[in-house]
This record gives sequence, structure tokens and C-alpha cells, in this order.
Amino acid sequence: MRAPIAIVAAMQEELGALLAVMPDEKKVRAAGREFWVGHLHGHAVVAVLSRIGKVAAATTATVLLERFGVGAIVFTGVAGGLAPGVEVGDVVVASRLLQHDLDASPIFPRYEVPLTGHARFATDTALSDALADVAADLLRDPVALLGQIVVNDFGLAAPSVHRGLVVSGDRFVSSEAESAALRRDLPDALAVEMEGAAVAQVCHDYGVPFAAVRTISDRADDAAHGDFTRFAAVVASRYSQALVNAWLARTPAT
Ligand code: ADE
Repeated sequence: MRAPIAIVAAMQEELGALLAVMPDEKKVRAAGREFWVGHLHGHAVVAVLSRIGKVAAATTATVLLERFGVGAIVFTGVAGGLAPGVEVGDVVVASRLLQHDLDASPIFPRYEVPLTGHARFATDTALSDALADVAADLLRDPVALLGQIVVNDFGLAAPSVHRGLVVSGDRFVSSEAESAALRRDLPDALAVEMEGAAVAQVCHDYGVPFAAVRTISDRADDAAHGDFTRFAAVVASRYSQALVNAWLARTPAT
């Protein structure tokens, strides 16, 4: 039998819609978290809330790998847009992830994870390609997914999919000065969040495929915290649920 696929988000608001459709089966408690163990479209799935930040995410990933034997991890949820044109309601599929708050210089180059030789950890290309295709299809009709009222409310006229660098750190970026500094230091960064690069590092260590798909909830500026929780619950959670469902439905379970 195939190893289960892990679906992870940091907060209840980000994964609530998917957890609501996780059928049958059981909840397992480990490391203070609840792991929903079940099936979706014939695939064995373990869904879990990692909680917020890099350590929480790394712990969760390690438990998924060691205790549940997952064969791939997909991280979803929200992120702040950094690059120009990465707008609220867009989806970013990470091709690489970096910890923007990791700095052991001058002993190691800035951002490099000491003793690994890497600052940027690659995601799995096939997994990311498949998720990006599904995201592009879903975003063609945001009204079908969210309803006209939500689309108008959040101004989500023509959302698009981006692929590239996502950066993670133990900080909610909520000032123009801080996001400008990230843009200056990491000009190719598309988006910022608080978990992905940690999970990418763990998956790299274990040799397990990883992908990260984030909905942009804010522009990591002075207004970033405004509608954050409501956006996560009303928009991002439904994106994640539709995305994971459509992706698993398209992927042969064998
Ligand atoms: N996740 C969503 N928005 C974010 C931001 N502005 N900073 C860090 N993580 C985020």
C-alpha cells in the first residue's frame, strides 16, 4: 500500500474547510496535535494543523514522517505577498523556500542552513506542477469557488498563480519597512510566511517530496493584519479544500 499523503496548514482557519470534508476514520493525538487519518478520493491522507512558526512546523513534519510514515507533505494556507504583482487572492506555488531570519554569518553565508550547504530548499517539481495546474483551473472562476459576495468583498477580480521563491521566518511581517527590506535583500521572493522553509528542510533531510501552496492574504505591509483571520477562513480555507480535492481526484490512487 502507498504511503499516506500529508496535508498541513498552520491554523484551523486555513484548513477548516478540508477538515470538514475529511470522511470516516480516526483522529490520533501526538506531540499535542490532532492528526486526522483518513482517505480522500482513494488516497490515504493525514491532515494536521502544525501551529504557527518554524519550530512548530518542523516538529509536525517530523511526527508525520516518523510516526505516520507519510510519503509526501503538502503545506497550504496563507502568505503575505512581497513581489510586485503578487496580490491578495493570488496563489503562490513554491519552487524553493528559504528562511529569511536565518543568519550564521560570517561563519556561514547569510540564509544558509549551517552544515547543509543550502539556503534554498527545492520543492518536488512533479507535485508542484500538478498543484499549480489545479490552482490555475480553480482561479479561472473564483465566483464559482467563493460566490460573488466574497469575491466583491475581498476585491478578487482576476486572481493568478505564481511560482518561485517563498521565504519563511518567525515573524508576521506587518510593516511596509519590513517588507521593503525583504524585497531589497531577496528580490526574487514572491511571498512570506512562517513555516514552509522549515518543512522543506525536514523533507530534504528525509528525502521525501514536499510542495507548498499559499493563498495571498495580505501584502505584508502596515495593513497586513486587517482582515487576516477572516480571509483565511472565508477565502484561503476554501481554496485549499478545492485545490486538494481536485488534485487528489485527478491523481491515480493505485
Ligand atoms: N502569513 C500571511 N501573511 C503573512 C505575513 N504578512 N507575514 C508572515 N506570514 C504571513
